[in-house]
Amino acid sequence: MPSVPSVLIASELKDLLPPQPVPEARVRWIAAGEETPGGDYVGIVPLLSRRLGAGDLAALPQLKVIANCAVGIDNVDVAAALVRGIVVTNTPDVLTEATADLTWALILAVARRLKEGAQLIAEQRWHGWNPTELLGLELRDRTLGLLGAGRIGQAVGRRAFGFSMRVLYHARTPKPDFEASWAAQAVELDALLGESDVLSVHLPSSDQTRDLLGDDLLARLRPGAILINTARGDIIDQEALLRALRSGHLGGVGLDVYPREPEVHPELVAHPRVVVLPHIGSATWETRRAMAALAVRNLRAVLRGERALTPVR
Ligand code: DGY
Repeated sequence: MPSVPSVLIASELKDLLPPQPVPEARVRWIAAGEETPGGDYVGIVPLLSRRLGAGDLAALPQLKVIANCAVGIDNVDVAAALVRGIVVTNTPDVLTEATADLTWALILAVARRLKEGAQLIAEQRWHGWNPTELLGLELRDRTLGLLGAGRIGQAVGRRAFGFSMRVLYHARTPKPDFEASWAAQAVELDALLGESDVLSVHLPSSDQTRDLLGDDLLARLRPGAILINTARGDIIDQEALLRALRSGHLGGVGLDVYPREPEVHPELVAHPRVVVLPHIGSATWETRRAMAALAVRNLRAVLRGERALTPVR
């Protein structure tokens, strides 16, 4: 009798999945803090916090599929997996709208100084309505710059229409539909940096994008600009970001992601013009359920010998 295959699934997904998410396999649930076990597992559904490098893959000689429960795949050594013939999948589309909403929550929070306002009340320093208190940036007729215009970048850009903002983007490939439907304009990087009142980062983490926004590019942002990052923390050089904040060059920063999560630099936490969130871009019940379901569907498709729904390459 053929033996039942075994798969690994992040135990944090339990509440989002049916009790037996892969009926044809034995599931071992692994907690985020637990090392990736080696053995004859044929599939794995990891969280984005689980690094799967070449060494981890070597300890999983039967592995056929890594169904990452995230759209970002920077936690996986994709090249090493593909050499072995392991299919790598991610969860695009299902999280686009939730992440775009959260990006706008950050844009509005920073532009309208919500952190300082909430602190004023919490510390009982508010003495009543004052015509010049906490004046922020009015978004109407300002420019939103998108660094990267994939699904999430475009969804953020679409929402700018409702705020009467001009939308510029810089991306590897032109986006004619985005331009035609939403009056978005493709520009060179220099123009994007120099003209954006709000710059929102929507790039994947890769060797090409790591620390991309360092001293040089941050200095090219217009003085007082707002910088938002809901993509990946390592795209912004954190020390350079702190320097740009200390010098007063940046008007404010909104972050949902960090280079060494869950570490968040204390200066960012304390800064009145910086809003920091704990990587909750996709954190709605609908979206997180859809992400978990898509990851498991990918895993099951590959184990059945079918094409994955959303392979990364
Ligand atoms: C992702 O999917 O890559 C996000 O960072 C979490 O939803």
